[in-house]
Amino acid sequence: MRIGILGGTGPAGSGLAARLSSVGYPTVIGSRSKYRAMEARDQLLESWPDLAELLDSGDNTDAASCDLVVIATPWDSAATTAQDNVDLLHGKIVVSMANALVRVGHEFQPLVPPRGSVAAHVQAAVPDCRVVAAFHHLPAKELGNIGSPIDSDVLICGDDPAAVREVSDIVSKIPGCRPLDAGELSNATAIEAFTAVLLQLNVRYRTRVAPKLTGIKRDPRAVDS
Ligand SMILES: NC(=O)c1ccc[n+]([C@@H]2O[C@H](COP(=O)([O-])OP(=O)(O)OC[C@H]3O[C@@H](n4cnc5c(N)ncnc54)[C@H](OP(=O)(O)O)[C@@H]3O)[C@@H](O)[C@H]2O)c1
Repeated sequence: MRIGILGGTGPAGSGLAARLSSVGYPTVIGSRSKYRAMEARDQLLESWPDLAELLDSGDNTDAASCDLVVIATPWDSAATTAQDNVDLLHGKIVVSMANALVRVGHEFQPLVPPRGSVAAHVQAAVPDCRVVAAFHHLPAKELGNIGSPIDSDVLICGDDPAAVREVSDIVSKIPGCRPLDAGELSNATAIEAFTAVLLQLNVRYRTRVAPKLTGIKRDPRAVDS
């Protein structure tokens, strides 16, 4: 499966690209400028030359042509970026990792995007895609540090159970990450907003937190509907 990342030149997208290619997925860093994407790839290869075979770059069109597509733009351009590529995204799994937040002084505050979450806004922009919300709480730095596992649960939600399972399978390949099926896409509102809490904890405790939930004993991918 080839994975494309729209807006893959930012810290989150390029960290995810490095991580996904490190676990065997051919990955394309996409950008509005193929030269910026090339630079982002070159920068990653300086630290991780072994990724060269699986890590590619291109413009957002190249990324949107992949089998599964992640949107890693700022929250207020996620839906328009999906819409710009609507023909290429037709019927695909589209992963939204964007969080609608604002920083006011030392405080992080969640914003309410149109339709209640960025993921729902993206789904409305590309209605025949299977939008899945995931990766919101994984810090970009940890994503990109492929030499170390990421000790975190990854909350995943979407309206298409098969798409959620497919994204869960991808997450389960990332060392240290446990995918958790958090229900339908409406729960993206809570998942995205919770990021403000995590970022606030980072500021308060001068650290980088990641969520880990207790009480789930069985294979987290074996869910009851
Ligand atoms: N940073 C984190 O630790 C982290 C962790 C989890 C989730 N997230 C979420 O992931 C998303 C990306 O985070 P980031 O920190 O990497 O963001 P970012 O650096 O601000 O933006 C990522 C990329 O989006 C593209 N972009 C910027 N403005 C755009 C516009 N108006 N239209 C289309 N594309 C645009 C740019 O790529 P080009 O100019 O090359 O096209 C940029 O490099 C955010 O929504 C964030 O909430 C971030």
